[in-house]
Amino acid sequence: MAARGEFSSRTAFVLAASGSAIGLGNIWGFPIKVASNGGGAFVFTYIILTFLLAYPILMAELVIGRYAKSDTVRSVNAVSTPGFRPLAFLTGYWGMLTASLILSFYAIVAGWMVSHGIGAVAELLGQSQTWFVADSVARSILFSAVFYVLTIAIVANGVASGIEKWSTRLMPVLILLIIALIIYIAMQPGAAEGWRVYLQPDFSKVLEPGLVVDALSQAFFSLSLGVGTMMIYGSYVSKSENLPKLGATVAGMDIGIAVLAGMLVIPAMYVAQHNGVVIYDDAGNLIESGRLIFNVLPSLFDTMGGAGAVVAMLFFALMSIAALTSSISMLEVPVAYASESRGIQRKKAAWLVGSGIFAFSLVIIFNAAWLFDWVVRIATEFSEPLIGILFCVFVGWVWQRDKLLQELKQGSPHVERTLFWKIWPTYVKFVCPLIVIGLLIRSFG
Ligand code: PHE
Repeated sequence: MAARGEFSSRTAFVLAASGSAIGLGNIWGFPIKVASNGGGAFVFTYIILTFLLAYPILMAELVIGRYAKSDTVRSVNAVSTPGFRPLAFLTGYWGMLTASLILSFYAIVAGWMVSHGIGAVAELLGQSQTWFVADSVARSILFSAVFYVLTIAIVANGVASGIEKWSTRLMPVLILLIIALIIYIAMQPGAAEGWRVYLQPDFSKVLEPGLVVDALSQAFFSLSLGVGTMMIYGSYVSKSENLPKLGATVAGMDIGIAVLAGMLVIPAMYVAQHNGVVIYDDAGNLIESGRLIFNVLPSLFDTMGGAGAVVAMLFFALMSIAALTSSISMLEVPVAYASESRGIQRKKAAWLVGSGIFAFSLVIIFNAAWLFDWVVRIATEFSEPLIGILFCVFVGWVWQRDKLLQELKQGSPHVERTLFWKIWPTYVKFVCPLIVIGLLIRSFG
């Protein structure tokens, strides 16, 4: 078997893992959930849940991955005991299936981002952008295919010369783009009202069940948890790195970019409203999220005259880049399995698995809305939290405690003096599963 890949540095891992975490979930999902859930109140609950729940589970995935240094199915098995083998296989395969399901709808949406971006370029060149921005089956197929080719090509090149190389190039661009767009939007008339809504929390909403559940699924999805993505990235981290610190950096970056995305999208909504675009329906509810991104914001860009097409191009480039560094991390889960456990050469594995998932995207495109919504819900509201619990069960209940602690000490010799060391192992064992189960019961009950 060929040598396993590894990230070449701490920064490379942080950028790749943040690239996975930062995606449509941050730049699209987060601001919209904020706007429909009492502004700052949602931001508050989401940040609390990220610290209390998502970060501990992120650490569970990273530690298992770095210990086993293998694909996710083998990694879960590596921390298992013979009696738990069936559950270990179930967990690994279910995660892999969920990663693939997420990619199957994510790539469709990402394709729309790409086509809107190209539409803006067409407009800048004095051409019509209509075909690129109008909803059609042909457009969905063509641009999701383009997006799959990019994703597959990167993953096919492996960890260092594929995933790492592109994540470290694209993430700085993403951060610059988002800051530039925030500044530009903040200077437009109407933006101030958006900033007010964003920063002023309506604390009466903090404990509303709808808000808490939205914040939970957001925290999971946004940190790429419960599918094995962070486990596989963790498996490419060197034994000499301090994992708790790396995990905290990634969680911090993820929250940071979500908060920045809010500073972009929410003021932009209010600029659009100022310019006469409807963003709340008669009942006072925020309009449907797809319409917000693909209709409201583009019509806002249209009202900005000559600069509008440039802003639109940059905005959709931002979205596409964020999506790409996430989609490669989804595809990596089944590809690592195909190449490590099944012995298929990586390039071949990437194209085979990627085409298979693309085929499923086609099924979704042809069946339109109901299947799309169904896949999103099964994957994100149901599978991700449950698999997250299973990861905690393996770390807390199945894995021999001294081996777990030994792995934690690798690369962090002073970890025994930290609060993390004292609390986390017991915390993932009891508290994380209970919080998730409690919130799930609340959402399905
Ligand atoms: N975290 C990504 C986002 O916010 C989505 C993702 C989910 C990526 C699961 C990988 C695995 O868009």
